[in-house]
Amino acid sequence: MKLFDVYPINPIEIVKGVGSLVYDAQGTEYLDLYGGHAVISIGHTNPRYVKRLEDQLHQIGFYSNSIEIPLQKQLAEKLGKVSGKEDYQLFLCNSGAEANENALKLASFYNGKKKVIAFRKAFHGRTSLAVAATDNPKIVAPVNETDNVIFLPWCDEAALEKAFAENEISSVIIEGIQGVGGIQVATESFLQKIRTLCDQYNAVFIADSVQCGYGRTGKFFSHDFAGVNADIYSMAKGMGNGFPIGGIIISPKIQPSYGMLGTTFGGNHLACAAALAVLEEMAENNLMHNAAEVGAYLMEELKKFEQVKEVRGRGLMIGIELPEELAHVRKELLYKHHIFTGEAKPNVVRLLPALNLSKAHANRFLQAFAQVLESSKETVA
Ligand SMILES: Cc1ncc(COP(=O)(O)O)c(C=O)c1O
Repeated sequence: MKLFDVYPINPIEIVKGVGSLVYDAQGTEYLDLYGGHAVISIGHTNPRYVKRLEDQLHQIGFYSNSIEIPLQKQLAEKLGKVSGKEDYQLFLCNSGAEANENALKLASFYNGKKKVIAFRKAFHGRTSLAVAATDNPKIVAPVNETDNVIFLPWCDEAALEKAFAENEISSVIIEGIQGVGGIQVATESFLQKIRTLCDQYNAVFIADSVQCGYGRTGKFFSHDFAGVNADIYSMAKGMGNGFPIGGIIISPKIQPSYGMLGTTFGGNHLACAAALAVLEEMAENNLMHNAAEVGAYLMEELKKFEQVKEVRGRGLMIGIELPEELAHVRKELLYKHHIFTGEAKPNVVRLLPALNLSKAHANRFLQAFAQVLESSKETVA
C-alpha cells in the first residue's frame, strides 16, 4: 500500500529530539524553530513529559468517558489556574479542527442561531464547519460549502458592525494572531469591538487559540492582550507537546447538557497526562515569561535587518516578511544551516519554537539568518 500523497515533504528523516534540537538518521543536528507546526511547546523528549507518559502507560492508557477520569479534573483545575480562566468549563477532544467544530456547534446550540462571522485569510481546520470558516476555497469540498459563514476583512470594525446589524449572528471566530494567514496580529480595539457586539446581539465570541494560544505569546491566550474575555477558547497544538489533544474552555454562561458534545478518545488518560506535564513545566519554569522575553529579543534583532520588509507577532509567534527575491531564505536556513522554520504565503518565514527556547539558540538563528541575507546580497549584486 502507498501513502495518500498530500504533503510536499522535505527529504529529511528526523529520528531523535532533545529540547529545541532534532537529529536526522545520519546524526545531523538541526535547530527546531518550527516545533512541528507550533506543537512542541516544552521541548522534545522533555524529561518530566516522558516520565509522566511512561508512568501513565504502566497504569492505564485509555478508557472512555463513561467512567470517572480524575486526571481530567486535575487538568481542568491546572488549566484554569495557568490561564486565569478558573470559572470556565473544559471539554476535551483530539485536535484543533475538532475544538473549533465543537465551539461553533456549541455556540449555535446556545443561542439557536446559524450565522458565523469569520475573517479573510483565517484558518480554523479541516472538519466540516471549521473548514467552512477557513478562507481557502481549495480545501473546502463542495459538501462543506454553506451560506452560514460570512467572511469579513481583517480588523474592519465598520464591516463587523454592518454584518451584525444585517444578520442573525450566532458566533464570531477569530485567531488572536493569524498563523497560516501570515502572522497578522488582531488589534486590541477590534477584539474589544467583537466583545461589545457579541454582548449586544447575544452572539458567542470564539477565540481560536490553537496556534496563537497556550502561552506562546507571553500571555496564555493572545486575545488576553485586549483585556476582554471570549466566551469559548479553542486549543490544541502546544497543549500536549506532540501528544494529540485539543479542547475548548467554555464561559459559565453556557450550560452543558448530557449528550450535547461527545468524543471517544478525547480526554483519555494518556492525553491528560501529557497535557498535565506541559502545564506543570510551563508553570514551574515560567515558560510564558521566557516566550515573551526571547520573543521580544528576536523581534528587536530581526527588525535591524534592512532586507526584512516587516517583522510581526508576539512572544514566540513571529513572522518575518521578506521581499520576493529572498524566497530562497527558508530553504537555505534548512539545508545549509540546519534550522527548521515555518512559512506563510507568499513570503513570510514563521517562527514557532518551543516556549523554552534559549537565547543562545535564538542567537544561533540570528547569525545564520544574517549569513543567508549577506550571501543573498552578493548573489543579487
Ligand atoms: C489557528 C488554527 N486553528 C485550527 C487549526 C487546526 O488544528 P488541527 O490541525 O489540530 O486540526 C490550526 C492548524 O494549523 C490552526 O493554526
